[in-house]
Amino acid sequence: MIKFDEKTRTFFLHGKEVSYLFRVDEYGYLEHLYFGPKAEDDLSYLNAPSFLSFSPTPPGAGGDFSLDTVRQEYGTYGQGDFRIPAFLAVREDGERASRLLYTGHAFTEGGVPNMPHARGGQTLRIDLKDARSSLTVHLFYTVFDDSDVIVRSASVANRGTAHATLLRADAFSVDLFESDVRAVRLVGRHANERMPEETPLGHGSIAVRSSRGASSHQANPFLALLLGNADEERGECYGFGLIYSGSFVLEAERSQTDLIRVRGGIDDTNFSWELAPNEMFFTPQSMISYSKEGLGGLSRTLSRFLRAHVACMEAMRSRPVVCNNWEATYFDFTPPRLLALIDEAAELGIDTFVLDDGWFGSRNSDAEGLGDWFVNEKKLRGGLAPLIARCRERGMTFGIWFEPEMVSEKSELYRAHPDWTVGRSPRAESRNQYVLDFSRPEVVDYLFGAMENILRCGVGYVKWDMNRHLTEFTSEALPAARQGEFSHRYMLGVYALAERLKAAFPDVFFEGCSGGGGRFDAGMLYYFPQIWTSDNTDAFDRARIEWGTSFAYPLSAMSCHVSACPNHQTGRTTPFSSRGDIASLGATGYELDLGKLTEEEKEAVRGQIARYRSIEPLLLFGDAYRLLDPFRGNYFCMEVVSGDRSRAYVVGMTAHAAAADYPRRVRLRGLDPEKRYFVPSLQRSLTGAALQNAGLLLPRAAHDFETWTWLLEAEE
Ligand code: DGJ
Repeated sequence: MIKFDEKTRTFFLHGKEVSYLFRVDEYGYLEHLYFGPKAEDDLSYLNAPSFLSFSPTPPGAGGDFSLDTVRQEYGTYGQGDFRIPAFLAVREDGERASRLLYTGHAFTEGGVPNMPHARGGQTLRIDLKDARSSLTVHLFYTVFDDSDVIVRSASVANRGTAHATLLRADAFSVDLFESDVRAVRLVGRHANERMPEETPLGHGSIAVRSSRGASSHQANPFLALLLGNADEERGECYGFGLIYSGSFVLEAERSQTDLIRVRGGIDDTNFSWELAPNEMFFTPQSMISYSKEGLGGLSRTLSRFLRAHVACMEAMRSRPVVCNNWEATYFDFTPPRLLALIDEAAELGIDTFVLDDGWFGSRNSDAEGLGDWFVNEKKLRGGLAPLIARCRERGMTFGIWFEPEMVSEKSELYRAHPDWTVGRSPRAESRNQYVLDFSRPEVVDYLFGAMENILRCGVGYVKWDMNRHLTEFTSEALPAARQGEFSHRYMLGVYALAERLKAAFPDVFFEGCSGGGGRFDAGMLYYFPQIWTSDNTDAFDRARIEWGTSFAYPLSAMSCHVSACPNHQTGRTTPFSSRGDIASLGATGYELDLGKLTEEEKEAVRGQIARYRSIEPLLLFGDAYRLLDPFRGNYFCMEVVSGDRSRAYVVGMTAHAAAADYPRRVRLRGLDPEKRYFVPSLQRSLTGAALQNAGLLLPRAAHDFETWTWLLEAEE
């Protein structure tokens, strides 16, 4: 609920349990007042001006007022604010300073055009006018009765007759009244995505940034700030995220007066946006949240919000249990081999077969064929029809892999349209492929047509991959002055294709992927209910990746497969049961040669699928708790609890079996203290209070990487 108090000119934005307050001051600036547990009071006294030498007073303001020290809602460059700005524009005459002053506000529709966005809620638009140019800025705030996430975005319009250029237009900035803060970022690399990293925030700034044209493996659009002693379970923290999949930045800066400015949006390393008279620019949406239950509470707030307001509707539906042929065959497959795999999958109770890379054009290795989205009839005689027919006979869905954004130099598409490639020659190569210019509508149209032809054949599942990052950021179709717009225009093209395909094929299930989890973000979740979490399926590494991913995303977003050992990425051998248990913390699937499984392993697969189906409602709608941190010790343990707290599923792992080991325990979370839960390993029931306060003993591991699972059900 949003209220405006005319007297104090304060906006009260109330979420489920939080309030966000800001006001219009006597000079017309938007001053941030408060973000935290519910507040109804006039808190304008909190922004008392303080005189500091070398902190200038802007024109028209008096006394000790300085933009350098006042807490603001959208920091601008110039006129005395020396902190990192959220907004930086150049006028035609070269002037870069701006001063945004309030002119009005309105209640309006939420959302941002042509980009993924949060649904529902109540949206407030604040109108600001730049006192130094003809630019107007709108700030959008959406609040939700059922959530402690506040969604913010901005738009900029040129209402004058001269050109202007945006060099930075963030989705949000906010100045927090905090100083004792640790920043938590999710960083990593291919096959090691979303590794949590905690850093104290001293003076100066800390950022998480991708300039790769994708949110990336290396950084994730998520930043948490932990206050004081806050930890996994206790204490206050703020979370910041973006509903965006391209180059981004989230940055926190501690100022000379120990305020913390946090800002974020499109990465401006290589960004500019021309605003001709009457043109308008929209930023992506950001999510800012607060929790007083530590990082775990913040993760649950974000996960619930993403599921309820961002993720596409199919995210609520039961997920396919997939057999993907990639690690079973790589490019080396024949129709008989695929048919055998389909038969074996059906035997085991798998419901979807996904044909991965290598079915199209001249694609027999990663050196050629991307862009030619027609079946390689030499390799697949009879095309896809026999495979689709076999899937149907077996009661299975047929799925297929695409990498729509890419082109190989050795392809018919490249030969026909070399100008559809991003950048000018010589270009950097990565996995022998170039990026298609998705800023051009004709390229998006072509891909839609090519994919539509295949999807019409009876495809029920699509895996959308992206296997390199952008290195050149120019389009043959854009004028020189607009090349700085390329990266964002590329993303708009990707979103446009996803939107069109989803509208045309509402029954097709889409999974996101980018060389594993290189584009695991809220923008993608708007289109894809689940994302391939990582190419690394080694049970030990995957447990850590799932742990880190759960900081910002629900378990239901993670696609998790059981693969063969020695693991193809790490060379490590882990028990089959461990691979299954770790994969059971997300949408479970298989990615190995099923024909090579022993009878015992086959039986295990049947059991894993049956278990997955029984715990699926927990994974889709439950709350996740991180119990034992694999980055800080020998154990990993995560729990997911149903909304009504009647069921809990726990997965644990001992990384290394130890000599002379001794009993260790884990305390469960999120249970109803009054309810009694039956604990199968003890063959008796215990109260939620006992399970949380006293806990359970970890089973002693007989060998490395041993896992255990507990499914606890409340007694009637
Ligand atoms: C990267 C993906 O993450 C893999 O699962 C597989 O689809 C390959 N690309 C295919 O090239």
